[in-house]
Amino acid sequence: MTILVTGGAGFIGANFVLDWLAACDEPVINLDKLTYAGNPETLASLQGDARHQWVQGDIGDAALVSRLLVEHRPRAVVNFAAESHVDRSIHGPGEFIETNIVGTFNLLESVRGYWQALPKGEMDPRVCGDDKALTQTAFRFLHVSTDEVYGSLAKGDPAFAETHRYEPNSPYSASKAASDHLVRAWHHTYGLPVLTTNCSNNYGPYHFPEKLIPLMIVNALAGKPLPVYGDGMQIRDWLYVKDHCSAIRRVLEAGRLGEVYNVGGWNEKPNIEIVQTICKLLDEMRPKADGSYASQITYVTDRPGHDRRYAIDARKLEAELGWKPAETFESGIRKTVEWYLANPEWVAHVQSGAYREWVQKQYSAS
Ligand code: NAD
Ligand code: TYD
Repeated sequence: MTILVTGGAGFIGANFVLDWLAACDEPVINLDKLTYAGNPETLASLQGDARHQWVQGDIGDAALVSRLLVEHRPRAVVNFAAESHVDRSIHGPGEFIETNIVGTFNLLESVRGYWQALPKGEMDPRVCGDDKALTQTAFRFLHVSTDEVYGSLAKGDPAFAETHRYEPNSPYSASKAASDHLVRAWHHTYGLPVLTTNCSNNYGPYHFPEKLIPLMIVNALAGKPLPVYGDGMQIRDWLYVKDHCSAIRRVLEAGRLGEVYNVGGWNEKPNIEIVQTICKLLDEMRPKADGSYASQITYVTDRPGHDRRYAIDARKLEAELGWKPAETFESGIRKTVEWYLANPEWVAHVQSGAYREWVQKQYSAS
């Protein structure tokens, strides 16, 4: 059996592929357009590993996706591919509409064509490594989405449950909300066996340094300002990326068809507290001669339409599928800071743009 992962050169997709192949030998076809956010260097340890195959391409390319599906006959498609940065969506929403909405639509259509041609039957090869024949019943399409589709909470509001109404506020969250609705409709209308996960903010290794946590670590070490938007009291609910990956594996294995599972670690924190925590960890692990990294904190103009608070109620996933995060915020953020200190080359290649050359070299060599 094989799985097709889309967006597997990005932050969460790449962590998912690494964890998947560390846990079992089931091959992964990794379809990624390699936008600025796609960094195959993250998966350099898989070079020469026959269980992992790169395909550079777009989820919206129906001919390519259909060919890959027929050729590799995956038992599941896990869709990470997306434009994912809210600030970029404010400055240029077009790509978000193209990939997150039109791309997801095209992907769903390609997958529907493939799935409808599979034999009908009851055999269920969902357990990793099982080589029974693939049937329509066994196939899964897992769509990876975000808590941002639910909009913004006020202080004291209950956390987002799966039944919370959709109220997306940014071009990013609106495009993800649209993709979630398409996935839902392809299940209800065509019977496509889908699962959707809506996760809170992730952090951890290989996170592109345009997002809050990696940006603060990288800027702090470079002696640059640490830009905190507005009053810094916006709240996000943080989950260590490997816990998100374990949740996706669990939902893929045992999730009920057509269901949505919210994923989160009950770690609500105001942004300013996150930045101060990072500064304290760096003060301990890489002390500066001239005082604390906290002196670099700089309040800047707020993001337009900035959501005030996100919080995930993960009780359905915990109760139904027995999932629990392995990391607390304290252990996860420590591991993350340690990882960035131990991997300056990965960061330097991202910052210099050398990771893009790595992409070109990989493809011209193959
Ligand atoms: P990312 O931006 O780091 O990676 C996205 C990947 O998708 C990149 O490798 C990029 O090259 C690829 N891609 C973009 N457009 C593509 C296309 N048209 N065809 C094929 N590949 C394409 O994003 P991420 O943080 O890893 O997020 C992955 C998924 O998880 C996204 O769907 C995102 O909405 C969701 N999510 C992210 C978070 C978070 O905190 N980062 C939280 C919850 C959900
Ligand atoms: P981000 O990592 O962009 O994720 P998202 O917008 O998807 O939640 O931002 C996390 C929070 O940090 C968000 O409230 C915006 C804030 N933020 C800053 O204050 N400064 C920054 O430089 C960045 C990138 C984000």
